[in-house]
Amino acid sequence: MSPVVIIALVVVVIIVVAVIASRRASGGTAERPSAAMKWTVTEVVRETPTTVSFGVDATMDFQPGQFVLLRPKAELHWRAYSFSRAPGQPLRLTVRRVENGTVSTHLTSQLAVGDTLEVKGPYGHFVMPAIVTRGLFIAGGSGVTPFLSWLHALDGRGWPFAITFIIGNRSAQEQILKAELDALEAKSKGKLTCVHVTDDVQGPLTKELLGALLEKVEAPSFIALCGPEPMMVNAREVTSARFSGVTVLEEKFTPSADVVGAGPGTTLELVQDGKVKPFEVKPGEHVLAAARRAGFDLPSGCEMGACGACRVKLHEGDIQIPDDACLSDAEKAQGYRLICVGNAKGAARFESSP
Ligand SMILES: Cc1cc2nc3c(=O)[nH]c(=O)nc-3n(C[C@H](O)[C@H](O)[C@H](O)COP(=O)(O)OP(=O)(O)OC[C@H]3O[C@@H](n4cnc5c(N)ncnc54)[C@H](O)[C@@H]3O)c2cc1C
Ligand code: FES
Repeated sequence: MSPVVIIALVVVVIIVVAVIASRRASGGTAERPSAAMKWTVTEVVRETPTTVSFGVDATMDFQPGQFVLLRPKAELHWRAYSFSRAPGQPLRLTVRRVENGTVSTHLTSQLAVGDTLEVKGPYGHFVMPAIVTRGLFIAGGSGVTPFLSWLHALDGRGWPFAITFIIGNRSAQEQILKAELDALEAKSKGKLTCVHVTDDVQGPLTKELLGALLEKVEAPSFIALCGPEPMMVNAREVTSARFSGVTVLEEKFTPSADVVGAGPGTTLELVQDGKVKPFEVKPGEHVLAAARRAGFDLPSGCEMGACGACRVKLHEGDIQIPDDACLSDAEKAQGYRLICVGNAKGAARFESSP
């Protein structure tokens, strides 16, 4: 093979790798589930009465704002947890207990040094755009975690732009990693302004409270939101009314109202190992839940349309998914769907893990 042909081939390979990398960074595409790794817990720190952070004996390449899927025991479900530090720092995850939450209760009350966790990832598109001139970040509760990853990364870059960060928590006692945020604010020398709000003093982040707080905020070029659904709904509405035409990036930690299954009962067909296997879906039931009830063991992860682990390919019919599920328009056009948040409005046949 002539040197010219070899150089041309190398250039083609570099371009293909660069295109794949930029596609991953640009968001909207479901990553396929990676093989599970085992991490050992090296440190458990109680941050608040309901929150712990923990370190592990592993390293991982990820982008600030990404998350992993984690399972502390084989009998528990996989759940998504965001890194609360930047790449290059020791890995840390920070988890708040949710009421009656199976995995978060285990992690916040029973996790101990030496425990083994099954982990897959990294996943996620909550990644800062390359060019930002002024940022407005709004977090509620454990939604602060991916922002901490961003802030540590921005600290490493010498704070290239100014940020207003509104953080809501239930009470002063429940403020997650507040001392670390204070230290980052001090280090930023005026670039980072944190506005801490607690339910017991100012009240929750309602539209009225957010509206009042935003009156004093300069127009950002980029807005990012992460937290429980009611806060996200309020923040979305108030920021879009106050700052029109600004790019908004969102990360949901809780299932939104529009992902509650609503389809009428019907029969679906799962194609597995070349065989067609029918199963019933009840009214109000997501396709993944129905498949599980019928005894099929299908892959899943976050179960909120955020990771892509439950992706299937339609052969016939349709399964409706919410707009914010992590599939690109191209994937949707090719017939891919996420069954954890998918509703069947009629008969459909699909193939798992294509
Ligand atoms: C991309 C992504 C990143 C995430 N990162 C983090 C993180 O860094 N730290 C963290 O603490 N959590 C994070 N979460 C939330 C986490 O994945 C779990 O949803 C949460 O820990 C609850 O799981 P569970 O098994 O304890 O509750 P479940 O047993 O699944 O749910 C029990 C009840 O709580 C409700 N519920 C579920 N999730 C929440 C929630 N987050 N808040 C309030 N109520 C809820 C359910 O509707 C249900 O009624 C993230 C979620 C996503 C999608
Ligand atoms: S399990 Fe994560 S998108 Fe369905």
